[in-house]
Formats: sequence, structure tokens, C-alpha cells
Amino acid sequence: MLLRETIEAIVQDPDGLYIDATFGRGGHSRALLARLGPAGRLVAIDRDPEAIEAARCIRDPRFSIRHMDFQGLGQLASEFGAHAVEGIIADLGVSSPQLDEPHRGFGFQRDGPLDMRMDPSQGRAAAEWLSEVSVDDLEEVLRNYGDERHARAIAQSIVSRCTDAHRGEAEPLVRTGQLAALIASVLRRRGGGKTPGHHPATRSFQAIRIHINDELSQLEALLKAAPRLLRNGGRLGVISFHSLEDRRVKQAFQPSAQRVDRAIGMGRARHAMLRTLVAPAPSSRGHGVWKSIGRFRAADEELSENPRARSAILRVGQHQLERSE
Ligand SMILES: C[S@@+](CC[C@H](N)C(=O)[O-])C[C@H]1O[C@@H](n2cnc3c(N)ncnc32)[C@H](O)[C@@H]1O
Repeated sequence: MLLRETIEAIVQDPDGLYIDATFGRGGHSRALLARLGPAGRLVAIDRDPEAIEAARCIRDPRFSIRHMDFQGLGQLASEFGAHAVEGIIADLGVSSPQLDEPHRGFGFQRDGPLDMRMDPSQGRAAAEWLSEVSVDDLEEVLRNYGDERHARAIAQSIVSRCTDAHRGEAEPLVRTGQLAALIASVLRRRGGGKTPGHHPATRSFQAIRIHINDELSQLEALLKAAPRLLRNGGRLGVISFHSLEDRRVKQAFQPSAQRVDRAIGMGRARHAMLRTLVAPAPSSRGHGVWKSIGRFRAADEELSENPRARSAILRVGQHQLERSE
């Protein structure tokens, strides 16, 4: 997705060290390798063991793959040394195989076990979490991560179904098909979920997936690690699919502290206080500042081949070290 745009924006020195933080099935990694020179190097990571398996077929001495999530990126900074990386790509969210293969339990189109973990060896499967969650917590997840207007009614229905299952009065909620049908029936009763081309469970599935994989904390870990990894002038490109992620990336690339610096007529104490309040981009916490290079969307040509690209936004930030570093 946004392949050409990402590679063009990220590669400045073809002989540098690059990180693909979301290998998936290697679309970006392969395009990057094709663009790199003989001395270039690419380290890819993914939290999904099936992605790591898929990467084994890339036989290129310039390429290596690691099984880790964004929390592990700090470790890479210690291994490579600070500010050694030329560019980082992160194509957030789930891969097509994760969505399409029923055994991963992400999709509602085809029935599978209700799992939704990108790394099934970590954390709790969706079925386990749903069987223990309270109505209030589930409502919050559905509202905050799925923007679901009927969050309360869906949460009540899921929790009541799980309570009945605990009492042996209903089938346990363990399949994606069961969950999709339950949500669809709640929305049907309330006259909601009628967006053309969208299954009524789309928003709820997205919300539960974001929670199960702790996707927003993972994004924070990426934005925190990148300034330590990138060289002066190195670039981070993040492709996101929903406004929660895009807003966070946009905010990180905005040199908010610099904006405050430019504010007119501000006393010293107030200025210092505002600097803390605006929570400057992670890079300005002692590791430099971000400069936004641009925001890109998929071209019509790509959209006609891949409708999933419609909601993808690529933001590219350039990292600049402070003079004292
Ligand atoms: C949209 S796909 C990437 C597709 C890839 N760019 C390609 O061309 O095939 C996202 C991938 O990133 C992985 N992923 C998502 N969040 C991650 C995280 N926090 N840490 C590591 N991998 C992550 C997922 O497991 C998935 O394989």
C-alpha cells in the first residue's frame, strides 16, 4: 500500500540502514530492497509469527527479520547504536492474510475462532477478554476505538450473553461468526449499522482488535523509539488507517514546542508551563525535533486495484537532532 510514495519519501541514501517495522508479507521490504544499493541493509520486524515465517523466503544478504513488536525497537537502538538508521517504515494495522484467513479470528466475513491477536503467543484472545469484561469497559473500547454510536447496547448484549454462557444457559461466545451475528442483531433492533458496503460489526471488530493488540500504546512505543534510532535527517514514514492513529502521528510530527516558542508576548514562566502542557513531540524530549515532510494518499490507480487503500494515509517526518547532540 502506498508503496511508491513510501519508498520515494524514505530512501535518501540507498546504502544506509533501514527498518521495516511491519513486515506483513514483505511488500514494502521487497520494494525497499529493490531500491537499496549493495551496501544498504534492511532489518524487518513483525509481531506475527506467520509473517516471520513468510520472510524466510527472502534470501538477500542485505535483509534480516526479527520477531518483535514496537516495544522491541528500543533494543535495536542499543544494538545498532543511537542515530544509526536512515529510514523507518511502519504500515500499521492488520495484514490481508490476518484479515482474510479465518483461523486468525480477525474477520467477520468468514467464521473462525474469536482470537484477533497479531501474536497469538502473547496476551489474551478476544473470546477470553469478552468473557470477563464489564459493560462499562467494553462500552468505552467500542466508543473510543470504533466510534460506535450503539456502544452501550452492544456491550450490554455481549456481556449478558457471556454471563448466560457462564451459567450454562447459552453457547459460549468463541467464534467470529457468533459475535458478528450478535452485533448485527443488536443494531437491527436499534435501526443502526446501515452504512452501505459495511458489515454492521465493522466498527466493533476494529475496536476490539485495537484493544486486544494494544495498538495505540504500540504506536506510542514506535514514536518514542524512532528519534533514538534515526540519524540526523533520517525519516519515519507511517501509514495509518484510522483517525486515532493518524491524529497521533500528525501530532508527533508537529513541532509543538517550536510553535509555543513563536508565541508572541509570553512571559517566561507562562512560556515554560506551556512547553510542558503542550506535550511536545517525542523527539523534542532531548532527542531532536521532527519536521513534517508530507501527507500522502493512494493514487486512483492503486485505489482501483485495492479498495482497502482508500482510508490509508502516509505521513512522513524527518528527524533533526538538536545541535547539542
Ligand atoms: C498492514 S500489515 C503490513 C503489510 C506490509 N507492509 C506488506 O507490504 O506486506 C501490518 C503488519 O504489521 C504487523 N504489526 C502491526 N503492529 C505491529 C507492532 N506493534 N509491532 C510489530 N508488528 C506489528 C502486523 O502483524 C502485520 O503483519
